[in-house]
Amino acid sequence: MNDTFLKACRGENLDYIPVWIMRQAGRYLPEYQAIRANVDFLTLCKTPKLAAEVTLQPVDILGVDAAILFSDILVPVESMGMRLEFSDKEGPVLSEPVRSKSAVEKLIIPDIEVDLPFILETISILRKELENKVPLIGFSGAPFTLATYMIEGGTSKNFLNTKKMMFQHSGVFDYLMEKLTVTITSYLSAQIKAGAQAVQIFDTWAGILAPFDYKKFVLPYLKKTISDIKKEGVPIIYFVNNCAGILQEVKKSGADVIGIDWRIDISDAIKKLGKKTVVQGNLDPCALFMPKEKLEDRVKDILWKAEVANGHIFNLGHGILPQTPVENVIAMVEAVHYYGRKS
Ligand code: CP3
Repeated sequence: MNDTFLKACRGENLDYIPVWIMRQAGRYLPEYQAIRANVDFLTLCKTPKLAAEVTLQPVDILGVDAAILFSDILVPVESMGMRLEFSDKEGPVLSEPVRSKSAVEKLIIPDIEVDLPFILETISILRKELENKVPLIGFSGAPFTLATYMIEGGTSKNFLNTKKMMFQHSGVFDYLMEKLTVTITSYLSAQIKAGAQAVQIFDTWAGILAPFDYKKFVLPYLKKTISDIKKEGVPIIYFVNNCAGILQEVKKSGADVIGIDWRIDISDAIKKLGKKTVVQGNLDPCALFMPKEKLEDRVKDILWKAEVANGHIFNLGHGILPQTPVENVIAMVEAVHYYGRKS
């Protein structure tokens, strides 16, 4: 198996810099669209054979160094008892947002094997299919990011409902975060037991907080989640979108790898995190729309700047956009492998 990605997570010596792409299975791939034409998104997530098939598509088409389980961060939220829909226009919609203590009380802590068996089945199919290929990454949303979707009922502009709960009813907010922490810990542990060889925790919305609030309302739950999962013995990647203002705090999460978005120069991120950290990132997803020579220059710049870190996994700074030309994605992966050679 090509274990370059796992070696990079552990800060070991490498032959070249590994690369994978957030949202690498998705709508920019015609092969994904072909499957999605016959099945809605949530059904796709819950049908292990199909979910495994789309997980493998980018591994074969792009030559990336890791596969990531095909699902969505909101799938376990549905099993906590909320009604989830994906609309083409609005994205995810949770119809009855959690805004009170009684709403938090009603939330179920799922039994992963009973309530989310399809996730574990997809992982075991994938481990067999990937045997001589690349490692499999499992994932979850972070407690805070899942909380925002549950409180807002979907994506939000200024997250006022979330912040009102934090600032006016912090006991209710803490209660929700506690339930999420337990759920996420057992969800990730179950994924690892089923065969996930690394896990990524997505904190898409943590960057909307003042550093003070991140420290107070987010970090304690995240640290607990990470220290509990550490016992399973696989690398943990923590990705925070819009991380520049909170990196000093993010460093304290205890994750093995920190995923960073593109709004901060990777040299500055490494300075803030310290050279002992392994970093993942951080090409602007829109750089994939540049002419290939310019794109290569961006790739080289990031590779070169990240050399001072304890390890580097190349990735985008956030998920790939549906309009992205596949040939440019392939060119990016080739450029990382070529310019990231170590010997
Ligand atoms: O990375 C991968 O290839 C694995 C699959 C994956 C998906 N979503 C598939 C998906 C992963 C890891 C996610 C994570 C996810 N989902 C996040 C965290 C990462 C991030 O992007 O910040 C968030 C915030 C979500 C919630 C979500 N799911 C939104 C806001 C949307 C709508 C916007 C969009 O991009 O469509 C989704 C839908 C979704 N999740 C799609 C895919 C492939 C598109 C669904 C479709 O086929 O129509």
